[in-house]
Amino acid sequence: MEQVMRNALLYMAKNRQANELARRYGLRFGAQRFVAGQTLSEAIKSVQTLNKQNLLVTLDHLGESVFTAEEAELSADACVSALTAIAEHGIRSNLSIKLTQLGMDLSRDLCVNNVRRILDEAKKHRNFVRIDMEDYAHNEATIALFKEMHEIYGNTVGLVIQSYLYKSKEDITHLGALDVNLRIVKGAYKEEASVAYPVKADVDKNYVTLVQQHLSAGHYTAIATHDDAIIDQMKHFISEHHIANDRFEFQMLYGIRTQLQQQLASEGYRVRIYVPYGDDWYAYFMRRLAERPANVAFVVKSMVHS
Ligand code: FDA
Repeated sequence: MEQVMRNALLYMAKNRQANELARRYGLRFGAQRFVAGQTLSEAIKSVQTLNKQNLLVTLDHLGESVFTAEEAELSADACVSALTAIAEHGIRSNLSIKLTQLGMDLSRDLCVNNVRRILDEAKKHRNFVRIDMEDYAHNEATIALFKEMHEIYGNTVGLVIQSYLYKSKEDITHLGALDVNLRIVKGAYKEEASVAYPVKADVDKNYVTLVQQHLSAGHYTAIATHDDAIIDQMKHFISEHHIANDRFEFQMLYGIRTQLQQQLASEGYRVRIYVPYGDDWYAYFMRRLAERPANVAFVVKSMVHS
């Protein structure tokens, strides 16, 4: 039953009309729990609050799969503005971006130009930009574009690898040779069993393998999960292998396991929160519901009270 609900939510995440409606009506149905606000200034306030709690941030200007070059350019403008605002406010945040938001499905050149504008701004402020990983259909193209950018910008740019994909172990070995900064996640999209582990226990097991592989090789690793058991296992691994605190960070999503976020920070670990903001919150929100269908009860409650 839970799997059916999960699949339905991931299917709904791709619905263009629902996305348009959501954009028009503003943050609703409890989306405020996962999204910091609709404007950059609201997002900056959230960063300031989190920074005060000793939590670092990666900002995400929400959006994916744009349909025109103009939309892609506006998204890039928003990312550049976010990096400028981070520098102006002196807050501790970097930026996460999605290539489909920057026109990847329309034209590779358009996308590269947009990414380069963002990376130029990041470099100017000695900041960092991470390319999120989207669905499997974009995986190879994302890795190829990342490698091209890494050659030019070095570790101003990082990437995400998903443990549900069979190919990720090989990708990490290959990317490790370039000493890249990777965020490792389990994976949030609906994928076929021909490309991704269908059983969660296998995804979890591969997650541990991938993080250990990248950490052991001495490359910077963002351990992005809310999974208690895995976090404990990683803490032991890090201590046993004497991995320095500045070689990794824990990452979690805004609004999820907030106590755990603070606990890790108080233990002296580097903890970074992924803070999404903007009008285009619908698909992101649907994926958060799909990860934990119990969240749907929370949506229903917020509908009753609105
Ligand atoms: P798991 O799903 O096993 O959850 C462990 C526990 O965490 C649950 O028992 C629950 O307590 C809590 N939890 C998890 N999700 C929750 C939710 N939605 N609501 C409430 N509680 C929840 N994916 C991707 O494909 N590409 C990407 O670029 C990114 N980027 C990214 C950045 C960061 C910082 C994080 C933390 C995650 C991502 N993800 C992602 C999402 C990732 O792939 C994955 O879907 C979620 O992190 C959920 O998996 P967990 O590792 O938390 O484990």
